[in-house]
Amino acid sequence: MSTVIYTADNGTVTTIEGRPGDSIMETAVRNGVPGIVGECGGSLSCATCHVFVADDTFEMVGGPGDLEDEMLDGTAVDRQDHSRLSCQITLEDGCEYHVSTPSEQL
Ligand code: FES
Repeated sequence: MSTVIYTADNGTVTTIEGRPGDSIMETAVRNGVPGIVGECGGSLSCATCHVFVADDTFEMVGGPGDLEDEMLDGTAVDRQDHSRLSCQITLEDGCEYHVSTPSEQL
């Protein structure tokens, strides 16, 4: 299994055991984690799955690809250095991921 620790804009922390191969967005939506919408279902066309990735996690997952990078310019809350679209981060077995969600996605 994998662990995803989501910190909401209001400071609420939610820890979810995720399935390897699923994305951070899918794991959030399936478990009712607030702060991630995932309107397009992960097809990289909505930018409503924006997250701020913690330093340790960013070292592990890296930065966005070209198309994701373009999409990050259209997020509801301005992107930051470690912004990613969480539908593009796939969980790997045995890893722990730390992300924060913005105040709004739409
Ligand atoms: S869910 Fe739409 S871009 Fe990630």
